[in-house]
Amino acid sequence: MEKLVEAVRQSFEKKFLRKPLLLASPGRINLIGEHTDYNEGFVLPGATDRCLIFAVAARTDRGCRFYSLDFDQDFTTDLDHLHRTEWRWPDYLQGVLDQFLKAGYNIGGVDLAFGGNVPIGGGMSSSAAVEAGVAFALNHLFELKLDLLTLALLAQKAENEFVGLRCGIMDMYANLHGRPGQVLKIDCRHLVHEYYPFDRPELRIIISDTGIRRELASSEYNVRRRQCEQGVRTLQKYYPNLKSLRDVNLEMLQEHQAEFDPVVWKRCAYVVRENNRVELACQDLLRHDFNSFGLRMQESHLGLRDEYEVSSPELNLLVEAASSVPGVLGSRMMGAGFGGCTISLVEVAAVEEFQARVSAAYRWETGREPAIHVVRVEAGTRILED
Ligand code: GLA
Repeated sequence: MEKLVEAVRQSFEKKFLRKPLLLASPGRINLIGEHTDYNEGFVLPGATDRCLIFAVAARTDRGCRFYSLDFDQDFTTDLDHLHRTEWRWPDYLQGVLDQFLKAGYNIGGVDLAFGGNVPIGGGMSSSAAVEAGVAFALNHLFELKLDLLTLALLAQKAENEFVGLRCGIMDMYANLHGRPGQVLKIDCRHLVHEYYPFDRPELRIIISDTGIRRELASSEYNVRRRQCEQGVRTLQKYYPNLKSLRDVNLEMLQEHQAEFDPVVWKRCAYVVRENNRVELACQDLLRHDFNSFGLRMQESHLGLRDEYEVSSPELNLLVEAASSVPGVLGSRMMGAGFGGCTISLVEVAAVEEFQARVSAAYRWETGREPAIHVVRVEAGTRILED
């Protein structure tokens, strides 16, 4: 991380000839609770030691200059001409500026350089790391005194409106509220959270990246959201106070199954079951019952694969390979799905074998090398140097 910080600092100073504010904005993991956030349900994410580093300084005019170390590209605009680009990465930055302007906050332009080791588009929410990082930086540079929840909501709106993905709140929320060795159970209806310890020395979290990035992820994501909304509308005829799948239980779904489109029913059943699993998984954590926790991760994967249908052959392959290694307590796809990565909970003694066997199986079946990262649960977005 030291090296990365120095690289970003030096790029900034060389390009912009001034001293920056430096901050770290992490990628996130999610232990369980997938596709539940936009249904006002529960999730259990944490921030990781994989980070984007930002070097940023306020300008006195409305100009904006960005530099991406990862793409080695410069982008220049100003606050009155924010626009979507072919490059995509500038959109995550511009989207946040756009939201701050729309909300009426008094900001000026910025000079900014950033880069990091969160796999881009790899399911650890590199996009939220950009958006939340920029929101945090603007708040600090322009002394806006906004709280973390407000920043998370602005970052989410940037993604929804500027980038065009109707993502939920989980990624930005976890990015901003993360703590070392603790995951957060977020109640995505009331936007409150509780911390749960997750720092067992005998366990590791392993992220296995398929290396596959699919455009389908965003189109199908929005389709899933609409299916959930359709399910809610079907039940609202009987339960007028019902607002989201958060208010639904399996009995209600079963009673009215005949009135559902069968696909929509499956989607809703998954969400209801996944919400229950998050509750039970949190109880497992309090009892330090990681075997039971791991089984719930497996169940979550099956639900994502068969009911919600957002997994992919490559994700399934990684999960199956991981699950066959002794000492792996649980494994499932993580994030939106279709490509991206899996998360596995692994005993320390099994890490090497995991790496060898999962890589070999993936290489054998696909001809590709998966990127395998052992990650730690770390602090959320923070200032490194002012
Ligand atoms: C993406 C979205 C999140 C969440 C997950 C699925 O990461 O950005 O809001 O919906 O997918 O759990």
